[in-house]
Amino acid sequence: MRKMTEDNIKAAFAGESQAHTKYQIFAYYAEKEGKKDLARLFNAVAYAELVHAKNHFKTLGGIGGNVENLSSAVAGETFEITEMYPAYDAVAKLQEEKGALRAIKWAIEAEKAHKELFEKAKATEEKGEAYALAEIHICAECGYTVEGEVPDKCPLCGKPKEIFKSF
Ligand SMILES: [Fe+2]
Ligand SMILES: [Fe+2]
Repeated sequence: MRKMTEDNIKAAFAGESQAHTKYQIFAYYAEKEGKKDLARLFNAVAYAELVHAKNHFKTLGGIGGNVENLSSAVAGETFEITEMYPAYDAVAKLQEEKGALRAIKWAIEAEKAHKELFEKAKATEEKGEAYALAEIHICAECGYTVEGEVPDKCPLCGKPKEIFKSF
C-alpha cells in the first residue's frame, strides 16, 4: 500500500475504534438510566464502527493467525506496562492530576494480568495444545481482570463482587 493511503487507513482505524468504544460507553450509561432503545441504538452503531475498524485493520495487514494475534496482543500490553503508562504516570504526577493518576494506576494493574493471560494462551497455542480458559471476571469500575473465582471485593478499587462482568 502506498504511504499516504496507509497513513489515512491507520487514521480511519483509530477513529472507528474510538467511535466503537465511545458508543459502547454511551450505551452503558443509557442502559443505567433504563433507556433500553437508546442503549440499543448506541450498541448497534458501535458494532457497525467495529466492522469498519476490522476492515481497515485487515487492509493494513494487522490480522494473522492466533499465535500472531496473541504476539501482537502481548506486545501491545507490554508496551503499555513498560513504556506508555509509566511515562504518562510521571507526567500526571508532575502535573498533580489526581483523576488521571487513578485511571492510569487502574489500567496498568489490569494490563499486567492481560499480558499474563495472553502469554499463557500464546504458549499453549504454540505447542498446538488445546487452550482452555476458566471463567474470567472484569471489574466494571476499574477493569481489574481475574480468571477463576470472583473476589468478594475488587482488590484494585474496592467495589463489591456484584459489579463484576463475567465471560
Ligand atoms: Fe489490557
Ligand atoms: Fe475494581
